[in-house]
Amino acid sequence: MCGIFGYLNYLIERDRRFIFDTLTQGLSRLEYRGYDSAGKLSYVVWAYANFGVAVDGDTEEEVMIVKQVGKVAALRKLIDEQTLDFHKTFISHCSMAHTRWATHGQPSPINSHPHRSDPTNEFVIVHNGIITNYKELKTVLEKNGYVFETETDTECVAKLTKYIYDREKTNGNLTFTALVKAVIKELEGSYAFIFKSKHFPNEVVATRRGSPLLVGVKTAKKLKVDFVDVEFGTAAESGEGISNASEPQTIENNFLSPDGGHPKLQRSQSRAFLSEDGLPQPIEYFLASDAAAIVEHTKRVLYLEDDDIAHIANGELHIHRLRRDDGISSSIRSIQTLEIELAEIMKGSFDHFMQKEIYEQPESVVNTMRGRVNFQNHKVTLGGLKAYVATIRRCRRIIFIACGTSYHSCLATRAIFEELTEIPAQLELASDFLDRKTPIFRDDVCVFVSQSGETADTILAMRYCLERGALAVGITNTVGSSISRETHCGVHINAGPEIGVASTKAYTSQYIALVMMAIQLSEDRTSMNERRNEIIDGLYRLPGHLKEVLSDDAKLQQLAADTLYKEKSLLIMGRGFQNATCLEGALKIKEISYMHSEGILAGELKHGPLALIDENMPVILVMTRDSLYPKVQSALQQVTARKGQPIIICNTGDNGISSQYKTIRVPQTVDCLQGLINIVPLQLLSYHLAVMHGVDVDFPRNLAKSVTVE
Ligand code: F6R
Repeated sequence: MCGIFGYLNYLIERDRRFIFDTLTQGLSRLEYRGYDSAGKLSYVVWAYANFGVAVDGDTEEEVMIVKQVGKVAALRKLIDEQTLDFHKTFISHCSMAHTRWATHGQPSPINSHPHRSDPTNEFVIVHNGIITNYKELKTVLEKNGYVFETETDTECVAKLTKYIYDREKTNGNLTFTALVKAVIKELEGSYAFIFKSKHFPNEVVATRRGSPLLVGVKTAKKLKVDFVDVEFGTAAESGEGISNASEPQTIENNFLSPDGGHPKLQRSQSRAFLSEDGLPQPIEYFLASDAAAIVEHTKRVLYLEDDDIAHIANGELHIHRLRRDDGISSSIRSIQTLEIELAEIMKGSFDHFMQKEIYEQPESVVNTMRGRVNFQNHKVTLGGLKAYVATIRRCRRIIFIACGTSYHSCLATRAIFEELTEIPAQLELASDFLDRKTPIFRDDVCVFVSQSGETADTILAMRYCLERGALAVGITNTVGSSISRETHCGVHINAGPEIGVASTKAYTSQYIALVMMAIQLSEDRTSMNERRNEIIDGLYRLPGHLKEVLSDDAKLQQLAADTLYKEKSLLIMGRGFQNATCLEGALKIKEISYMHSEGILAGELKHGPLALIDENMPVILVMTRDSLYPKVQSALQQVTARKGQPIIICNTGDNGISSQYKTIRVPQTVDCLQGLINIVPLQLLSYHLAVMHGVDVDFPRNLAKSVTVE
């Protein structure tokens, strides 16, 4: 989806070169999030400098917009071509940048953000999300004389802001926050916005609903408080009287805040970010859709929640709520410390993020298990679930809800989940689950699996289940994401940032997180001791097994070049635990090499897909050793009898495979973990096929890393 980046400095001198470099660098960190349907990137940088008013007496204002379609390098070039004094400094300023994944209107400079209220740029905004009632708003605005210059939904919001401002400006109390509140009350859909206006110099307002947004805080001095209290509106803004009579609370200590709660907030501390000496202090703020764009500047971040309205003015940050008494769990937002390192979001010596992430798996799986699996005692403890284990054991059923690759991780682990826990497990694709308005009950446990924690369909499904009183469990890679915040409990998979659009290491880590969950839930069942021990031993050996598969990369590259590269289609077949491997392998191949690929449950072969088989149809058969091996052998015979020549993924040392077949050999492990190993050659094959086809691997066409729209 789109990516937003904003930068503000207060009482710190920064020149234009620094500002533009900061913006373009921020964009390049968000590049993976979205790019337009033509496979190009659309970027906009807006530098709006207000300085002087309260700072040095200079009243000059500068608004500048640079838009480009293409890569960040093209934008940098365009910026360098501007006739500008790059040494000019600004002691206080704000700017914003945006990468676009087109939803309304083609990718083009005009449709790129920011969008403005009018040619003089009275109000300018960047937006991630979709405004679903924009047509109605547009009709009203057009009737009021507004002329639209773009095809986007976002432009409506910029114009609506001006419309409300013009109507309300005679009200002397109209604040920027109140204005934005009035605007977003009119909106349906999802959004993260940054608003800037000439009428409110030195101020920025940012808000979100359904799309992620976080604020990075950088200051040389120590902060007096480490959190910001939430203001519920003032008489002037809401007409509801001064609010927040309720006692401030400590933050909810769910699986998001492993370090526990925070000290009680006193009203007198409501001003955010005073320095210890109480004086105004030099400070920088970074607003971004993703921590990846912030971490190189500061590790101190504050995650905005839905309907939070962040107002930054004169170096201070205040958080307001859209409505009073809206049932939010906490009246403070704490400053959290990011745990990711810059190196984790850099490619290093790899050609692509996807390749790096495939190669990281021996390490990322260890990070998922670290501190949770005791290999000596054969015990698993997931801290984020501990308090809920008894409730989960008592539930009527567990429903796993996810999209795409995350769904496949649920599919891969359902059988072992049912076997270990004997709790009926149901799997749901989030969009279909919602389409069917699936009945949900208070004694259901719903598990939401999502790498980003921000996938719109999964979030909507989560809220649907929460409304119906089910226990919501989150399994996510993104600390601070909507799913990790809004679920009752859960597990962070700790795979590290995943930048490549095609999910790889998140899959293996989700898989392990779900297996660990099943083990923990089954610990009261002594009859399962042996099985649990066997699985935990398999987990111990896993990093070594993954390394072994990765060491065959060159052979897989050769296989891709010799056998698959020229093909138009590929079927991947298997059964039992390997059904998920086939579906996930096929998804990887189609999404990054654009080659048609289908995962087929081998048990279904004779019910239709067998008609596709002839000597020309490329097939990969997953045939590693488990209890279903004889049945997969019979699938092999069925394929061979139709002159099919499958490539076989089988175990090292399996001598039962005739030399007439090409094989991909992988180490053998416990049946329910074998999919963690078998998926790796398919990830590598898909990667090599994509490179051979000249696809920009980390940016496959039409896709986005984080799908924050329905
Ligand atoms: C495929 C892929 C997608 C995601 C899906 C869900 O490689 O990455 O299918 O798995 O969009 O995303 P998350 O896991 O972020 O909810």
